[in-house]
Amino acid sequence: MNTRDTLKINGAGHLEIGGMDCVALREKFGTPLYVFDEDYIRKMMRVYRDTIAREYGDGLVLYASKAFSCTAIYAIAAEEGIGVDVVSGGELYTAMRAGFPANKICMHGNNKLPSEIAYALECGVGLIAVDGASEADLIEEEAAQRGTVQDVLLRINPGVEAHTHAYIQTAKPDSKFGFSVAEGAAEEMVKRILAKKHLRLKGFHCHIGSQIFERKSFCLAARKCVGFMSEIRQKYGLEADILNLGGGFGIWYSEGDAQAAPETYADYLRALISSLKEECAAHGLKLPRLMIEPGRSIVGEAGITLYTVGEIKEIPGVRKYVAIDGGMFDNPRYCLYQAKYTALLANRAAEPPCERVALAGKCCESGDLIGTDFNLPKAERGDLVAVFSTGAYNYSMASNYNRNLIPPAVLVKDGGAEYIVKPQSFEDLVRNDVVPDRLRRK
Ligand code: LLP
Repeated sequence: MNTRDTLKINGAGHLEIGGMDCVALREKFGTPLYVFDEDYIRKMMRVYRDTIAREYGDGLVLYASKAFSCTAIYAIAAEEGIGVDVVSGGELYTAMRAGFPANKICMHGNNKLPSEIAYALECGVGLIAVDGASEADLIEEEAAQRGTVQDVLLRINPGVEAHTHAYIQTAKPDSKFGFSVAEGAAEEMVKRILAKKHLRLKGFHCHIGSQIFERKSFCLAARKCVGFMSEIRQKYGLEADILNLGGGFGIWYSEGDAQAAPETYADYLRALISSLKEECAAHGLKLPRLMIEPGRSIVGEAGITLYTVGEIKEIPGVRKYVAIDGGMFDNPRYCLYQAKYTALLANRAAEPPCERVALAGKCCESGDLIGTDFNLPKAERGDLVAVFSTGAYNYSMASNYNRNLIPPAVLVKDGGAEYIVKPQSFEDLVRNDVVPDRLRRK
């Protein structure tokens, strides 16, 4: 466990987050339950925001809201004065519902729907990151109809293979994202955008992948982008105003990962900033406005998930399964990426672990596990399990598989807890179901 002021074991031997005893959280809200530590989220937003302001100057942090999107998180981002990245009409709608300033929104997506583009322009989003040849035409058309000029970035693929799971690498040569610099596709797109009257090419975007610890990959990407910017200036006289270097900073999940305090993330930025400054100086380029898009590192370690232990099954010589009241419907990351997590028994948090168990979900599927290697005290029915680092890409990837209810989320701060996502009900599950007349039971 990566302990901190707001995540620790208290005097009662219980896990405590944001000043709330997890046993009390269960009493009040039940399980499964996503719990988010507001102080940690704000701290991370500030570390990025302040490091850019102090060490670079002109820049904007865009919280990558795909990591965890609900109305309250946009409200927090707005209060902290940062921007957000959205990737769908739904995320944009949620941000707008929170009253988020549209000029601080960057719209992403590798296949933005015409309706999403229209909605983005209607909202007046600050930037759209163009990630498709025909998308530029669609935005042009929509902007022309509205008699406006839309600021855009071009998503380029600088060809940096970052060290992470293949599914979350995004800038390798075989990728659905971005226009390849090496193959000339990026330059072709620059020409195409420059020819459009209703698009203003403000600069470039790249994102090399997610859950990356190697600083050199980020630095290399920054250098390659600057190299491309310099080439574009030489050939087309366009000096980019903005360079958006995406997100991807890794967080602690389990033994193998570095345990970092929020301040440590300033180091990633410092390394990035110094590569960027050096490379711009080498090419005689003005420093662009720097944007970054961290998602996981802002909310990931802020979140834990609480579950109640149910069935326990031991297969002698094989494995012990401890089943919980959640599973792949609230956290599909083991199924998708063989992701590793750490857990403890939150009601017996001070007890030393004595056995290695698999945490099994309740879905009708063998692969429905949170993981296979959890060191826990001997768990019993009714114990309270806390899984750490579940704030990112858990709720946002949750589903109603097996018609399980997506758990609610609470925000904890200074010993208080409030819903930010209310519990679903069975009624919610059938809300959009329709039974054609001929199938109605008389
Ligand atoms: N910007 C862009 C354009 C992105 O595609 C992403 C993540 C981010 C920023 C934020 O990256 P972060 O700081 O969160 O690493 N579902 C996967 C992760 C997919 C990441 C997709 N893009 C997982 O659970 O690991």
